[in-house]
Amino acid sequence: MITEIHLAPLQGFTDAIFRQLFCKYYGGIDRCYTPFIRLEHGNFRVRDIRDIESPQDNLSPQILPGSASEFNVLVDKIESLGYTEIDINMGCPFPPVMAHGRGCALLNIPEKAIEILREARQRPAVRFSLKMRLGYADTTQWRQIIDAVNDTELTHVTVHARYGKQQYKGECDMEQFADFVAACRHKVIYNGDICTPADAEAVGNRFAIGGVMIGRGLLADLNLPRKIKGLEPCNIDCFRQLHAELVEQLTQRMDNDRQVVDRMKPYWEYLFPTVDHKMRKRIKKSNKMSEYSAAVAEILHQLKEEES
Ligand SMILES: Cc1cc2nc3c(=O)[nH]c(=O)nc-3n(C[C@H](O)[C@H](O)[C@H](O)COP(=O)(O)O)c2cc1C
Repeated sequence: MITEIHLAPLQGFTDAIFRQLFCKYYGGIDRCYTPFIRLEHGNFRVRDIRDIESPQDNLSPQILPGSASEFNVLVDKIESLGYTEIDINMGCPFPPVMAHGRGCALLNIPEKAIEILREARQRPAVRFSLKMRLGYADTTQWRQIIDAVNDTELTHVTVHARYGKQQYKGECDMEQFADFVAACRHKVIYNGDICTPADAEAVGNRFAIGGVMIGRGLLADLNLPRKIKGLEPCNIDCFRQLHAELVEQLTQRMDNDRQVVDRMKPYWEYLFPTVDHKMRKRIKKSNKMSEYSAAVAEILHQLKEEES
């Protein structure tokens, strides 16, 4: 039985506007995270700070430190904005992130990961959680840091049950994940390829976990958390409203419509996967808001017909 559902941080998708609209129109999630917040030449990026300026219930800003000193700069700032829960990223496999010794690179250099966890122990006012993979080069590297993980006060550890080199494809390693759950003294949240209520049920039945984190599966079916929890799914009009508000808020924030269209397109790589690929292609090809809106209206019309 799955108790908690966490919305995965997805850079470019789950920023404040999306998170707030998702909670308003769909809900069913117990915790969400910002996409990772990192330092760029020692400074914060404006958009990262903007993303955490408006408080949200059950939100953990996620940090991407590459060293103990970066960790402290990131935590100081986020704490000064009033947050008491912070998630530490040790899982991002993007080459530019890895090149700075951040994210999944920390699993390849366990002494650095251990140093950061040691630093977390010096900050008792903050409740930390950790999001990690099973390793970078293979799925056994977690074993090198598990003692430090257990020695640190953490609210939970989210494990994407792949290794970094796999990026987002290939099998999750359920055997290593089982060993991790057995070795970890904290609440463990499972992450990786939860796309249906049956997927969530299967991991809930098999492992002693505290819940699941869902990313791409949630974008493909915004009702997934509700379905997992046995709640009535929202209808397509909910999506229509969410989408309209998302576009409206992005339009207020961005310089021109073209930027809004470019920002919206990636969502359609995931949303409603059963929609005919020709209709999806129209979105991909649209350059103007009028083209984009017409393509979306057609998709929504089709989905509404299927619903009734
Ligand atoms: C486009 C994209 C952006 C992501 N951004 C982040 C991020 O900022 N922080 C993070 O911890 N994980 C990030 N992830 C990883 C997801 O949170 C999640 O661990 C991964 O997608 C596996 O879960 P899923 O199969 O439910 O999508 C990202 C993944 C994708 C595909």
